[in-house]
Amino acid sequence: MKAIRMSEPGGPDVLVLEDVPDLQPGPGEVVVDLKAAALNRRDVFVRKGVAKVPLPLTPGSDGAGVVSAIGDGVKGVAEGDEVIILPSLAWGDDQRAPGPHFRILGGPDQGTYAQQIVIAAENVYPRPGRLSWHEAAALPLAGLTAWRALFSRARVQPGETVLVIGIGGGVATFAMHLAKAAGCKVVVTSSSDEKLAKAAALGADVGVNYATAGDEWAAAVKEANGGGVDVVIDSVGSTWAGSVDSCAPGGRVVVFGGTGGAKVEMMVRPMTLGQVSLLGTTMGSPMEFGQLLAAVDTQSWVPVIDSVRPLADAAAAHEREEAGLHFGKLVLECS
Ligand SMILES: NC(=O)c1ccc[n+]([C@@H]2O[C@H](COP(=O)([O-])OP(=O)(O)OC[C@H]3O[C@@H](n4cnc5c(N)ncnc54)[C@H](OP(=O)(O)O)[C@@H]3O)[C@@H](O)[C@H]2O)c1
Repeated sequence: MKAIRMSEPGGPDVLVLEDVPDLQPGPGEVVVDLKAAALNRRDVFVRKGVAKVPLPLTPGSDGAGVVSAIGDGVKGVAEGDEVIILPSLAWGDDQRAPGPHFRILGGPDQGTYAQQIVIAAENVYPRPGRLSWHEAAALPLAGLTAWRALFSRARVQPGETVLVIGIGGGVATFAMHLAKAAGCKVVVTSSSDEKLAKAAALGADVGVNYATAGDEWAAAVKEANGGGVDVVIDSVGSTWAGSVDSCAPGGRVVVFGGTGGAKVEMMVRPMTLGQVSLLGTTMGSPMEFGQLLAAVDTQSWVPVIDSVRPLADAAAAHEREEAGLHFGKLVLECS
């Protein structure tokens, strides 16, 4: 089979399409012939060596495909099943946080930029029937992160206002859809008026261009929303201070990313005076993945696909993701 391999950290050109041996399942594992994979910002961090993982590696956390081989002892999964992959590995039993053996598929474990993957049977779930292969492959990591952030951590309620920072991002587009489906008003920020217009067409109620607003973006959010928002979904990190400033009294800011850098500096007083909660989160548990898939079954939105490329063009997809040109998810066709 063919897979994208990287044997050293670096630019997009370290992602090379290679012939590798077909995979065999071990006990408790299945082989999935992948139809599609999708990118996450994490893949860029892995490729650049910011997220340290053993090499060589097939990157990629997101994928969907058809089960083609079953290992000893596997129950409840059959050859021919159409599945979506949960990239949270070994979350553990505690819903509050992942356990010590938690890993994300696609480093250190071999990932989805390939025609096949071998994975624990407990990590495959029936493909949501109403999603295409591309949409199904786009869902797992970013959809799960948005689900846990909104519902397990922020405990968002219908009628609340949710601010989603940087709506071009993969997680951000899922957060927008899920918050709207939950009956919330959604405010989004972006560096691009074009992306704000796309978000409005998908249901966002208010848009603020953080590039043109500069340091005043939080004030612009507050002004547009008369008194501040209830919940902020912040994947950027360097925006934490503005996210806190955007809140109405008692607001909740959920954080899970550092696209803007690994260190944050902010004032204490707006948090204490505003009674704002800062809530950390990471991806999500198998239980939350089940909740997400159940919601997808009953809701009508579909994952936002920025573009689709052949597996061989993974490097070009990385260039687009790293430059922040995308709106939603970048998909790779694996078969
Ligand atoms: N801890 C976890 O479990 C977890 C899970 C998923 C993701 N993450 C992290 O969350 C982040 C987002 O992931 P992703 O895959 O959704 O990334 P992505 O698709 O690459 O999205 C990045 C988006 O961030 C926005 N952005 C960048 N700088 C910004 C700034 N200064 N102010 C406001 N927005 C800014 C941009 O939005 P515009 O283009 O609209 O300007 C950009 O499109 C990454 O840091 C990722 O590692 C963490």
